[in-house]
Amino acid sequence: MAISSAVRDQSPPRLKGRAVIGNTWEFKQDRLALFSRTFEQCGDLGAYKVAGQYMYLANSVELVHEILIKNGAAFEKTERFRAFGRPLLGDGLLTASNEVHKRNRRIIQPRFRTAAVKTSVDVAARVAGEVAGAWSEGQVVDVRREMVKVVLGVVGRNLFSRDILGEADELGNALTDAIHGFDSQASALIPLTIEWPTPANLRYRRAIERLERSFHAFLAERRAQADRPDDWLNLLMEARHEDGTPLSDRQIRDEALNMFMPGHETTATALTWSLHLLAKHPDCYARLLAEVDEVLGDRPVVLDDLPRLPYTLQVFKEAMRLYPPVYYFSRQATREVEVLGHRLPAGATVVFSPYVLHRRADYYPDPERFDPDRFAPEREEQLPRHAYLPFGAGHRVCIGNHHALLNGHVVLAALAQRVGLANLPGHTPVTDPMVTLRPKDGLPMRVTRRAPAPATARPVAAEGCPFRAESD
Ligand code: HEM
Repeated sequence: MAISSAVRDQSPPRLKGRAVIGNTWEFKQDRLALFSRTFEQCGDLGAYKVAGQYMYLANSVELVHEILIKNGAAFEKTERFRAFGRPLLGDGLLTASNEVHKRNRRIIQPRFRTAAVKTSVDVAARVAGEVAGAWSEGQVVDVRREMVKVVLGVVGRNLFSRDILGEADELGNALTDAIHGFDSQASALIPLTIEWPTPANLRYRRAIERLERSFHAFLAERRAQADRPDDWLNLLMEARHEDGTPLSDRQIRDEALNMFMPGHETTATALTWSLHLLAKHPDCYARLLAEVDEVLGDRPVVLDDLPRLPYTLQVFKEAMRLYPPVYYFSRQATREVEVLGHRLPAGATVVFSPYVLHRRADYYPDPERFDPDRFAPEREEQLPRHAYLPFGAGHRVCIGNHHALLNGHVVLAALAQRVGLANLPGHTPVTDPMVTLRPKDGLPMRVTRRAPAPATARPVAAEGCPFRAESD
């Protein structure tokens, strides 16, 4: 696509910044505020400058369509993201170039979307029940840590059919160390790629080596098994390229980690914010509890129940609108591109921030308000296409989006059957935008145990919420 001469000079507006460093300090201090300010002052497409480089924040549904869908082939994942992710994620879907990605996604996606959905629901309900079962009346738990535990338990079973949280699980221990390495590299004030021999990087390298060993031992064990479980690993082992050849062990390892790494942290973050927001909005909490009591009572949630628990899913979606776990992601233009009358030079980095997009008042009136009814089916249909971006869009949209929604839905319902959670007085969680949008220093909440009666014996609606914050 040639650039017209009228557009050649139309670089997007630039945000004011300090001499030399531009907006680098602000990016380090409060990147959510920087993204918001860029949108407020520059409009739909505006540039800020970090570490000597202009980044273009694209913040409209039209730009999502133009860049991620219509011109998707002209934008790759950024070199920085790929260099950072590759030691752990290899050439899997998240980090692969468009060319490799196209080939691999085509063979993985069709079966993955529907993979073992019924089992996933049973697993999520059971694991959430086990984790919440260990909480006692009045106990203060760090909900963020507990949700990581739930989701790791679920992903470990979906992917490998094993309890990776068991203390003796070698693969689980290796994965946990690798997660810590990845996290500390991502959270470093000055992020250095793994080649730098810092103590943290050396630990990270050792963790990856250990992970390689235990993964390959596990794969060999699985190959020798006559009766293989129907899990995501098996799906990868049975996937075939167009010429009929299977994925290599290296590809299986890469793709399995590409499901594991983004799969656990994001969902746990979304659940954490969902529980905080529910506790902060007692009417919404009461409505969710009433729905769960009426439909499920005290029996475990199964796949067929989900359509009858619409409000529970609406809560999860609205929490991801306000606190999208992947609060920004980027692309790099492979050549000079014209987007909606602006010129982007070859190599330009374009940033999408679901956090800022989800707060556009023209898409979401009164955007700061927690209102799960925005996602009631008839209202959700009215949203502009691409205004809801927690999973990205286009050919690199999250492959786990259906599983993520399913797990969030089931875990919220399973928790509601057993416990209520209240925010602690004086504790207001602050966002900590690192790998995902976590609450800084976790999220302490107080547990109240619930014991719903069998569904048939329950009244249809409950009045008021028994789990008000102690400060309400
Ligand atoms: C609430 C939970 C989740 C959120 C918010 C989320 C978010 C995202 C986003 C925004 C992207 C696109 C990034 C980009 O375009 O640069 C993505 C990609 C991806 N996600 Fe998720 N994700 C979630 C759960 C999962 C789960 C459960 C899996 C497990 C398989 C998963 C696996 C992946 C993979 C493999 C990709 C790369 C897809 C590709 O490029 O083809 N995610 N995710």
